[in-house]
Amino acid sequence: MRVSETQLALLEAASATETKTVAQLAEETGEDPAAVTGAAFELEAEGLLAVEEHVAETVTLTEEGERYREERLPELRLRAAAAEAGADESAVELGRLIGEAGLGGPEVDIALSNFARKGYGEIDDGAVSLSSDPDYDPDGDPEAEALETIEGNDEAVGYLDGGILDRLESRGLVERTETTVRSVTLTDEGVTALMEGLEAAETVGAITPELLTGGEWSEVEFAEYNVEADAETTYGGKEHILRQTANRVKDVLVGMGFQEMEGPHADADFWINDCLFMPQDHPARTHWDRFELDVPPMEELPEDLVERVEDAHRNGVGPDGDGYHSPWDEAFARAVALRGHTTSLSMRYLSGHAIGELEPPQRYFSVEKVYRNDTLDPTHLLEFFQIEGWVMAEDLSVRDLMGTFTEFYEQFGITDLEFKPHYNPYTEPSFELFGKHPETGELIEIGNSGIFREEVLTPLGVDCDVMAWGLALERLLMLMYGFEDIRDVHGTLCDLELLRNVEVVY
Ligand code: PHE
Repeated sequence: MRVSETQLALLEAASATETKTVAQLAEETGEDPAAVTGAAFELEAEGLLAVEEHVAETVTLTEEGERYREERLPELRLRAAAAEAGADESAVELGRLIGEAGLGGPEVDIALSNFARKGYGEIDDGAVSLSSDPDYDPDGDPEAEALETIEGNDEAVGYLDGGILDRLESRGLVERTETTVRSVTLTDEGVTALMEGLEAAETVGAITPELLTGGEWSEVEFAEYNVEADAETTYGGKEHILRQTANRVKDVLVGMGFQEMEGPHADADFWINDCLFMPQDHPARTHWDRFELDVPPMEELPEDLVERVEDAHRNGVGPDGDGYHSPWDEAFARAVALRGHTTSLSMRYLSGHAIGELEPPQRYFSVEKVYRNDTLDPTHLLEFFQIEGWVMAEDLSVRDLMGTFTEFYEQFGITDLEFKPHYNPYTEPSFELFGKHPETGELIEIGNSGIFREEVLTPLGVDCDVMAWGLALERLLMLMYGFEDIRDVHGTLCDLELLRNVEVVY
């Protein structure tokens, strides 16, 4: 009987009495584990080997786990520093201990929460006191010991305490993975075949130009295709869920009779703020909140509109109108910044500047990026997508706004909206929208809205009602898909598994 070289090596290394894993056999034969697996299945088909499969769990240290194994767990470092400083006698200032323990960044919180959990002592009013525990052994911490055991031994999962492993996993210090382990035993037929003598034939996996031109192809034996072999996982390209949802939002709004607006990401403050009756000394207009650009001011603004807007800021609008009594500077209005909201587009359209005068009724929207100099956290990014929209008609009320939102969010399965009165310099009345997070049950803010004041509409030349809103696309996604950190879908920390596997809800 002729078999391939790998098959022969495998048959010779396998045993009829002892089950060996593919990993073991690969090591013994010096063959690649994938080749051994392939050969094992081929020999199983011939009846010479029996192949068994089971799922085994392995555990490895994450980068953070590896670091704490070397530098010790943050809470142990804090405890050691506290013991050193005499915190078992009298309380020691926390700041000092953090410095002495060399804790920085997120390690501080990690140290504090685990210090409390492990009952090392009290932290009160910024001072640490250690509780007395005569049995405490600084080298006997079970979590630290488990990190040592796991290092370099991914089968340690078999004998470590499950509770400790769960804890380390929830701290993000270890990663558990399931793998299929295949093991092999020689069958009676295999033993007989070996005794009768087997001849190794060199098999060729792929035909090459050399084989063809040299004529060798006619002598070699070709490896058979194994159509049952595990295939490598490949991921096809996929539209990002943020883009998918943005497109769905557009479809829904078009279905509700809206037309799409477009306009610049970097715009004059005039369109971003002044038209919206935002006083020039409003905190949102300082460098704290806005991304100013080092580019020349915007020359082309409609002169008469600039005059009317300035007049609204200085003197107000209507017989009882009153201005802001604060400076208004045309140069500031012309300065260019990244838009902090897409309401700048609404101003361009409502003023007639974008596509000419509009007669009511009209409905417009955009789903576009806005930029804010915020602090990054689980619900805030420096840029995000805003779903802007407005309806221009006679006699609009808050009921119309609520109805529009109810209808819009229903399309995404969100039916428990809550509304809260709010203040915007440009709308009256105004309200914020909230939705319930499907996992945490927390109410999260998903938008802001209102009916434009006459101080906004009169200078624009609009003499009917306009209701308007800005909704956050990313927050809508959080409600739809239940993730808790906006950075799971954006940027370098994004959760690839989530992006690959998330189901598209239609
Ligand atoms: N510009 C507001 C924001 O960014 C949203 C809004 C638009 C509110 C239009 C009212 C009217 O929060």
